[in-house]
Amino acid sequence: MTRTVAILADVHGNMPALRAVCADIERQRPDEVMVAGDLVGRGPEGSRVVAAIAERGWRCLRGNHEDYLLGFARREVPDDWWEEEEWAASRWMAAELEPSAVEFIDALPAELRPAVGGDLLVVHGSPRSNNEGLGPWTRDRELEEHLDSIDATLLVCGHTHRPMDRKVRNGRVVNVGAVGLPFNRDRRAQYALFRHDGSSWSVEFRQVGYDTAELLRIYRTSGFQEAGGLTAELLRLEVRQAAPFLVPFLKWARLTGRRPRAARIGEFLDLYDPTEPMHDFFHRLRALRR
Ligand SMILES: [Fe+2]
Ligand SMILES: [Fe+2]
Repeated sequence: MTRTVAILADVHGNMPALRAVCADIERQRPDEVMVAGDLVGRGPEGSRVVAAIAERGWRCLRGNHEDYLLGFARREVPDDWWEEEEWAASRWMAAELEPSAVEFIDALPAELRPAVGGDLLVVHGSPRSNNEGLGPWTRDRELEEHLDSIDATLLVCGHTHRPMDRKVRNGRVVNVGAVGLPFNRDRRAQYALFRHDGSSWSVEFRQVGYDTAELLRIYRTSGFQEAGGLTAELLRLEVRQAAPFLVPFLKWARLTGRRPRAARIGEFLDLYDPTEPMHDFFHRLRALRR
């Protein structure tokens, strides 16, 4: 008998995208649904996303953005993070989290396996860190080392916001992409269905359209945009273009010795090409400094 598991990741406080994915999942009728972290952070409605997922009883694991916001919620972050413009959005998002949402994300494990069985392990980033991304740039040998380190031949992850399906010598690594903030130039909410026929897994990547204008309206009406300043501005670009802007901007500011300020975004955009792989951009920046 075929078993179907839906796995989604990186909702990032985006309720319109999550609602669209929930409707698609209801039509697909999987046996089980798992959420591979980053429910919160980088978006305005963390509490509502956590409540919607908790209500459905979907099992979740803990991404790096759960860690960041828990750090703020418990006042365990470095002193300057309470002052810097760069962290204003995180301060707002941590304050927005209901006590029940804080309790929920604090209890999440680092990895999950399907209750329906099968040789599959879900993590957020990589098996050793929720802040290490496995993407198109990761060499086969590294993927093989990760597979060697776990007790499964199918490793499922998120975090890079880019869907990926790679077969290597000792197994397969699938990145399910992002529901709330994709970086593959496709603005639709993305997740994956895994079907087990008793011997092996097949994967279907799903893309679900939703109204990004509604999300950007929530940015304004919730107060996130005003409070989030620099970060909210860069996240708006990420939503509109389905490409990374926040991390490249911060790296550009660091490498060129500029204070990360919203007023600098124009200068950055003159140099940055969102179609260029991030690693190539960083390489170009380092070359410019020489
Ligand atoms: Fe993420
Ligand atoms: Fe992440």
